[in-house]
Amino acid sequence: MADNLESAIDEVIHTEALTKVYPGDILAVDGLDLSVARGEIFGLLGPNGAGKTTTAGMLTTRVIPTGGTAFVGGIDVVAHPTAAKQVIGVVPQTNTLDRSLTVWENLYFHGRFFGMNAKTSKAEATRLLEQFRLSDRATVDVSALSGGMAQRLMVARAIMHRPAILFLDEPTAGLDPQSRIALWDILGELHTDGQTILLTTHYMEEADELCDRLAIIDHGKLLALDTPANLKRSVGIDAMITVSATGDLDRLASVLRDSLTTATKVESVDGVVRVWMQQLVGVLPAIIDAAEKQGFTVTDLSSTEPTLETVFISLTGKDLRE
Ligand SMILES: Nc1ncnc2c1ncn2[C@@H]1O[C@H](COP(=O)(O)OP(=O)(O)OP(=O)(O)O)[C@@H](O)[C@H]1O
Ligand SMILES: [Mg+2]
Repeated sequence: MADNLESAIDEVIHTEALTKVYPGDILAVDGLDLSVARGEIFGLLGPNGAGKTTTAGMLTTRVIPTGGTAFVGGIDVVAHPTAAKQVIGVVPQTNTLDRSLTVWENLYFHGRFFGMNAKTSKAEATRLLEQFRLSDRATVDVSALSGGMAQRLMVARAIMHRPAILFLDEPTAGLDPQSRIALWDILGELHTDGQTILLTTHYMEEADELCDRLAIIDHGKLLALDTPANLKRSVGIDAMITVSATGDLDRLASVLRDSLTTATKVESVDGVVRVWMQQLVGVLPAIIDAAEKQGFTVTDLSSTEPTLETVFISLTGKDLRE
């Protein structure tokens, strides 16, 4: 009983069969069961249209679920949206900074809106600009910020009222590599300070780099949920070999299936043959050999160590980037 109570308190997000059907019978989120623990960086990874924003939207009270339940910080988001808003910080997919205010004012008025007195709000705004390396921009209009700076300011604003959980929807979409890494650093620092974070992304490197655990979703459905390392192990592969060749690829797949007895899987998809293997030693020459004996010309051959991308491909048969 005490254990149950303990785990209930340490669970910052809890959903059961969370579902959203938009008007027109669009099933955006399909029965999602999620549990995020205090202090975790948790990722929702999936391609465009997977239902990431809709899921984050339901957890942040912006989208009303059509089924299931969702709790943030122990609060039912549907029954008590106002209370739920107090315990969350949100960085949405689009820039929502107030363009009529300066950088510093964007933070100051956010603090005031969340009930901080003037003195505390002033001090916090100044402190956060320092922490997010934006002090030298304090008095400029937010329209004068680069994309990376605007994104950092949105994160600063979202954590100003010390939310139990910080939501970020595609935090680094559209950022240049340098700004992306600067934001990763900031999220890493917040994580070290114990901030619970849920982020959505379709960048597997980002999910791999930042997240303690990940939910891979597609068509609104949970396909897998684990640590990045376990996900990469779980597919039971060491590498994926992609073979491009001229000729009937279905037949080539069957030729390779017969000759590579240690292959986990051989399939012909999207104009290539994919071979999943436990180990690579000697395999590439063996593939060329087997193919050419049967009259195929191999035009390209590449191998990939397991990444979240290959996990996604093995779960769905398609590329995360498509
Ligand atoms: N307001 C809406 N009305 C109707 N359908 C919607 C609405 N918002 C999203 N959808 C649909 O719901 C599905 C999930 O969309 P959602 O925006 O949650 O996906 P996403 O994973 O965030 O995608 P992206 O990577 O493009 O941001 C899509 O099919 C989308 O077209
Ligand atoms: Mg989205």
